[in-house]
Amino acid sequence: MKKLFTVIAVAFAFAAASLPASAGDFDKQIKARQALMQIYAFNLGQLGAMAKGDVAYDADAAKAAAGNLHAAATMKNGAMWPKGSDSSVAGQEKMTRAKAEIWSTYPMIAEKGKAMAEASAQMAAVAGNGADALRGAMGAVGAACKGCHENFRGPKVN
Ligand code: HEC
Repeated sequence: MKKLFTVIAVAFAFAAASLPASAGDFDKQIKARQALMQIYAFNLGQLGAMAKGDVAYDADAAKAAAGNLHAAATMKNGAMWPKGSDSSVAGQEKMTRAKAEIWSTYPMIAEKGKAMAEASAQMAAVAGNGADALRGAMGAVGAACKGCHENFRGPKVN
């Protein structure tokens, strides 16, 4: 009897593993990459506020935000993007805006990530040199965010 139960349990585990991805399988990965994006947005927001003059320029604060942005942009994040964790999977469209094209056009997204890291490196190099230098580096960072979102982030669902 015990043996039969084991066989059934193993068969069930196999069946579960061979099912296509379903909503909920990738909660952790999706949350982690969205958190990474929030780190981008928070630090870019601080830099943007100084660039616009909404907040007084402060070299240390600018350097800190730019350093954080660059650290986040160079974090190895491949494990946050498992294949099948996109919004085309039924039920998953409420959790993620990631498009299936991330995987079908790979390595295009990796190129976009590289462009982001180059722009954030440039920002980190000059952010402490005054508001004008900061402003000069803003465009490339914004373009790097947009360049990836245009291709790989779908519309908001909820
Ligand atoms: C290499 C591609 C790529 C780059 C570069 C990128 N993003 Fe994203 N971003 C995405 C994708 C894909 C999503 C959707 C993720 C999801 O919902 O699973 C996203 C989602 C977001 C979100 C929503 C996060 C949430 O909580 O749902 C914010 C905010 C964001 N990005 C900000 C930024 C900012 C700011 C930058 C630039 C500093 C940036 N992103 C650069 C691909 C990118």
